[in-house]
Amino acid sequence: MYILGIETSCDETAAAVVKDGREVLSNVVYTQIPLHQPYGGVVPEIASRAHVEKISEVVKTALSQFESAVPGGRIDAVAVTYGPGLSPALIVGLNAAKGLAISLGVPLIAINHIEAHLHTPFLFDAGLPPPSVPDPASAVPALGLAISGGHTNWFDITAYGSYRTIGQTLDDAAGEAFDKAAKLLGLGYPGGPVLDKIAKAYFASPDASLRKLVPFPKGRPREGVSALAGLAADMCVSFSGLKTALLRYVQQHPELANPPSDAPTLEYAPGQRVTLDMAHVVASYQEAIVSAVADRTRTALRRGGYKTLLLGGGVSLNSRLRTALGAVAEREKATLLMAKPKYCGDNGAMIAGLAYYRRNISGEDALRLDVAPSLEIE
Ligand code: KG4
Ligand code: ZN
Repeated sequence: MYILGIETSCDETAAAVVKDGREVLSNVVYTQIPLHQPYGGVVPEIASRAHVEKISEVVKTALSQFESAVPGGRIDAVAVTYGPGLSPALIVGLNAAKGLAISLGVPLIAINHIEAHLHTPFLFDAGLPPPSVPDPASAVPALGLAISGGHTNWFDITAYGSYRTIGQTLDDAAGEAFDKAAKLLGLGYPGGPVLDKIAKAYFASPDASLRKLVPFPKGRPREGVSALAGLAADMCVSFSGLKTALLRYVQQHPELANPPSDAPTLEYAPGQRVTLDMAHVVASYQEAIVSAVADRTRTALRRGGYKTLLLGGGVSLNSRLRTALGAVAEREKATLLMAKPKYCGDNGAMIAGLAYYRRNISGEDALRLDVAPSLEIE
């Protein structure tokens, strides 16, 4: 079965064709990051307009790549993200998907974006040897960690497609914590990739063994707060205190924003340098996030008797987090399943892939489908 998947929930316009839920035949992602960079975050109106401008081209390219891979192949269904995400952005993808489903005479499949991130470890590229990852049904019971710009959630997955939230952030998502820190430190948008590179260069430098990391708070929620969310306190994170601690640190260390001309620097990407002091702060901040996430994951794995740890979402690209979660999973005897880097950020393949396992809607019901910006997965 060939499914076309469309994704426009945030700042990527994406489309892909996936066979039988796993084999990716085409995958096209147009990123709007340069459009939002001057504003230090995603501007919904700009996102929506850019989706409108790009959606036809992105879908056309995905379909023509599919036709080259499978001459004469036909699309059996159109899948689309209907939430959660930015309403004006979601609407563009949903309307395009409705139009395509009608014109192709195939059903529509409505997909939850967060659930789709958790499907990414099961995707593989057409033409490559089959991956060693198990199929979704044999990966359960699994602990799912969806970690992105909008979410940080731990799910108990007893059967594939059946989720119970057992932990979450009580305020900012991990990706948001990376993005806000980068903005505060003047390191651009999005923050995750740049902070990751700087921290990596820092840990590889001699300074890392000479200096202690800044003791930033490790994401512990305030007493009593997690009870409000109905979740165990030791399965929740809060990153707002960490952000405030960083702000205070920056205010107390004016040399970060205005370094002396002879301050030692570190190259973290070709031709890109920051002061060693800045790299030290970045590495410390990232470590606070990584250790908070690794700690909650360890707690869940110890309690749950899980076979696998399923990792998905843009922040799962973080090299330090991948290593830390790999070590935690190994110690707790669970297999860490995570996607190839190209499937970690938002893409259409995760939408088309998950859709194979979901109910489709057709006729009037498909036309009536609306976006659900605050959609939960349960
Ligand atoms: O999943 P995604 O593409 O979009 C959402 O659904 O939110 O995730 C985007 C988030 C951004 O906050 C970005 O800073 C973060 O993922 N991110 C990273 C890295 N690459 C992207 N965070 C930490 N380390 C990275 N290497
Ligand atoms: Zn996402």
